[in-house]
Amino acid sequence: MVNTHKIPLAYDTTLLTYTNKKEYVFWDTDQFPNLAIMGNSGSGKSYFIRLLLGYISKYAITATGGQPKAYVGCFKNELLTGGKRFWGRHDVRLALSQFHAEFEARANGDPCKDFRLLVIDEYISWLASMEAKEAKEVQKCIAELLFMVRSKNMHILLGCHRGMATDFQHGSRDCLNIIFLGSPSKESVGSFVSREDASMIEKRGRGEGYTVFDGQKPKAITVPTVQDMAKLDMAIQKLVSD
Ligand SMILES: Nc1ncnc2c1ncn2[C@@H]1O[C@H](COP(=O)(O)OP(=O)(O)O)[C@@H](O)[C@H]1O
Ligand SMILES: [Mg+2]
Repeated sequence: MVNTHKIPLAYDTTLLTYTNKKEYVFWDTDQFPNLAIMGNSGSGKSYFIRLLLGYISKYAITATGGQPKAYVGCFKNELLTGGKRFWGRHDVRLALSQFHAEFEARANGDPCKDFRLLVIDEYISWLASMEAKEAKEVQKCIAELLFMVRSKNMHILLGCHRGMATDFQHGSRDCLNIIFLGSPSKESVGSFVSREDASMIEKRGRGEGYTVFDGQKPKAITVPTVQDMAKLDMAIQKLVSD
């Protein structure tokens, strides 16, 4: 039986290259509750997020049958075409506030432990679009959630074009596990990983990158190409609408 804490993430590039085997690197959501996907424009961040939403819809089911749900915001308004819990452009804050409300309910005694995910794609561009005061409030809220959601089986996934550790307040950067895709900027890589690890991160193509998870060496990954978009869309709609 699939361990519900482990979600397929992407192929292990080393195995793929040397043995032609398509073996997955998994996302252990218990050990690494929150992710940020960082990469240049066109590196495949949004494509990867959609694929991950599909995997979560299929695999993040609790042992008692509890269904996963996602709250999704995308400042560019391009990730999904609709859904009850999808907000684009100027409504992204609703994704954050509704996820936050569910977290508060659990913190105040709601025993539900079903998998919940907050996705904000184009997080840094979204912050940059706000007045300074509002951006600070949002960063504070995200920082608090990054620190606290783990024990509630709630998780955060941020898509960032150009992220720096300083974008995450009060050291909450340490609660994020990073996936670099394509050719992330040197400044971004240098701001999140040690110099030794940064030297292992090479420029790669679209849909290719590295996981840099807490306490682990960078691991090269290759994002699978979706075979059946209609099926993926159905799985995502279940996650954001049911
Ligand atoms: N792993 C992949 N396999 C096939 N096509 C991909 C893959 N990743 C991205 N693409 C395609 O590349 C283009 C850019 O991807 P996108 O996810 O929009 O990039 P980003 O969000 O980083 O700007 C899109 O047309 C997308 O369909
Ligand atoms: Mg995108």
